[in-house]
Amino acid sequence: MIVQSSSPAGPSPTAATQVAGLPIGDEALATEVTAGLDRVEDLLRREVHSDYRFVENTSLHLIEAGGKRFRPLLTLLAAQVAAGDAARRSSAPSGATSEDVVVAATSVELVHLATLYHDDVMDEAVMRRGAQSANARWDNTVAILTGDYLFAHASRLVSQLGPEAVRIIAETFAELVTGQMRETRGPRGDDPIEHYMAVVAEKTGSLIATAGRFGAMFAGAEQAHVEALGRFGEIIGTAFQVSDDIIDIASPSGDSGKTPGTDLREGVATLPVLYALADDDAAAARLRELGVGEKEITDDAVVAEALEILRASDGLARTRAALDAQAEAARAELAGLPAGPARAALSALLDYTVERVG
Ligand code: IPE
Ligand code: IPE
Ligand code: MG
Ligand code: MG
Repeated sequence: MIVQSSSPAGPSPTAATQVAGLPIGDEALATEVTAGLDRVEDLLRREVHSDYRFVENTSLHLIEAGGKRFRPLLTLLAAQVAAGDAARRSSAPSGATSEDVVVAATSVELVHLATLYHDDVMDEAVMRRGAQSANARWDNTVAILTGDYLFAHASRLVSQLGPEAVRIIAETFAELVTGQMRETRGPRGDDPIEHYMAVVAEKTGSLIATAGRFGAMFAGAEQAHVEALGRFGEIIGTAFQVSDDIIDIASPSGDSGKTPGTDLREGVATLPVLYALADDDAAAARLRELGVGEKEITDDAVVAEALEILRASDGLARTRAALDAQAEAARAELAGLPAGPARAALSALLDYTVERVG
């Protein structure tokens, strides 16, 4: 986790403090969110404890490798936005970083982590969070069972939040898995761009929506704000996956902690590929000839050629424009929420999502 002050001499009243890489202008908010993220880190490690050290170690492997902690950060910030509601309605403490909020943030990160172990098996990925993936370090069986173990512990934690939270996380996980299944099967005659949008909303938007919704719910937000933060999460989550798909093509090796070109190798047609293939030019013809987005590509030279063509194509520019449109839609959701430092931080999170390169 990256938690540091932007100034080496310590925070000044005007400088934004970096919390998990996000600039937060308000000192009190930055301090509270940093403390919340520290509690999430602590709970993640405690939750995966086992007397059988091997499964604890395989779980800690990716927890300790880092990761952006994007989902817990969203939960904590959504809770901070919602805290304004609770404070307006009663004189009780806001509970913005209550134990329930920390449990909710941690359980969402554990579900995410479980899906990463499984995703790397399916995608045959060898690098994750700048470390070896679990399937590469051990084998597929260990990676699959570690994912199952993490999901079991996520479920155990969510049960502390009551049956409504259990229902939401179960429905979220079903949606996420449906997205992974839809991606695996491919469009099969459906419009490929509509298919892609359904996949990214399901496999990534669903859990990030729940991260936002949970933060609002467990900080006592009014229902309209719970819904708005859920919708904001779904849109920013979908945008997050689109930017991840840009990074798979555009990012220089190593910047993302993953291997660029993984989607191409797996034959997954992401938005930049679909737009590039839709062009009526020599680049599109060559991509088709190479089988990009249609079949697995194992030859490194073919992957390198396809990446070079895609980086120069206007498929990337069109994808960035689609991302900007999603950011506008997310901003419209924010506009209906109470103004303040937490809402400003969510806006910064949106900027980060659109601009990120790793
Ligand atoms: C990776 O998620 C999988 C996607 C949905 C793109 P993140 O990019 O949030 O991964 P970490 O947690 O930072 O490693
Ligand atoms: C990951 O999708 C989505 C989930 C883990 C649910 P990708 O396969 O595109 O993500 P990365 O690039 O491996 O992180
Ligand atoms: Mg993958
Ligand atoms: Mg995948």
